[in-house]
Amino acid sequence: MQNENPITESAVQTAVAAAVAAFSDAASLATLKLAKAEHLGEKSVIAKLNSLMREVPKAEKAATGKLMGQARAQVEKVYAAREGELAQEAAAAQLAAEAVDVTAAPIRRQIGGRHPLAQLQEDIVDSFVAMGWEVAEGPELEHEWYNFDALGFDQDHPARAEADTFYIADAPQLLLRTHTSPVQSRALLSRELPLYIVAPGRVYRTDELDATHTPVFHQIEGIAVDKGLTMAHLKGTLEHFARRMFGDDAKIRLRPNFFPFTEPSAEMDVWFPNARGGARWIEWGGCGMVDPNVLLAAGIDPEEYQGFAFGMGIERTLQFRNGINDMRDMVEGDVRFNAQFGGLV
Ligand code: DAH
Repeated sequence: MQNENPITESAVQTAVAAAVAAFSDAASLATLKLAKAEHLGEKSVIAKLNSLMREVPKAEKAATGKLMGQARAQVEKVYAAREGELAQEAAAAQLAAEAVDVTAAPIRRQIGGRHPLAQLQEDIVDSFVAMGWEVAEGPELEHEWYNFDALGFDQDHPARAEADTFYIADAPQLLLRTHTSPVQSRALLSRELPLYIVAPGRVYRTDELDATHTPVFHQIEGIAVDKGLTMAHLKGTLEHFARRMFGDDAKIRLRPNFFPFTEPSAEMDVWFPNARGGARWIEWGGCGMVDPNVLLAAGIDPEEYQGFAFGMGIERTLQFRNGINDMRDMVEGDVRFNAQFGGLV
């Protein structure tokens, strides 16, 4: 008696139809993979049918084998086609997500601005370096001796009073320097002669911040010591500097004054042709011939060497040069203020 063929055509067609439907329904590569395991894997209907091949009657083996082979080939073809489609969709989605609009305008980010004071200070220093002067620095936390004693300030000079000077608690001889003049004393003691130096830097006084005062400000100090220096050299140097700051028609006027470290001493005014509201004289700083006692304190023979010195405020220079009415604009750090001076980076 002939065995019945356990692999019926309708069973194969049902299995194929189920696989094709599952593959077509798969909306992603991940679900497609799961569907493949279910419909083509070891436990799939197709695999089970295949394992029945042993029981197929000899006479039908070839036809049933062909049926099974075609079924598997059809299912695999559908699978490969769907896989291709889904892969293409995934790639397209990724490209869309990562798309860059190369025609879009770039975002401009300003990272900050150089402060006009820093720019001016650099400009001032450059103008002296161009004349062969050197740049010197001193500490902002200074010893009273350099800030006052070495410069001839009496023990009871009013500038020493706590009303003007920031002293350091528990270190009575230390203070925040009230001017850049202590750099003169330091330079005289440490440098060879002749000496031509400028010393820009921060100084401190116990002023309240308002439109015309700030407790922290900047000065530029200059000192020259050489053989045969006179007031004429001082005036020539200042005039050159004034022209660089305030224009070719600027000039200098000296008025007698007193500083403990210069003799004679003068207050210097600068004629500013382009001042806001019209040309006028502006008080610019102090100057004079270095007092022989200051030279002696540094071991320099005043018979052989003479010196001149000057000091002025950098904020004040900027204020007049650029017509800045309120000092507070300079300390608030608003980048829009800096931007007016072209310092944006
Ligand atoms: N140190 C003085 C001040 O802060 C300015 C000054 C005056 C500096 C005369 C000098 C000078 O070098 O010779 O008011």
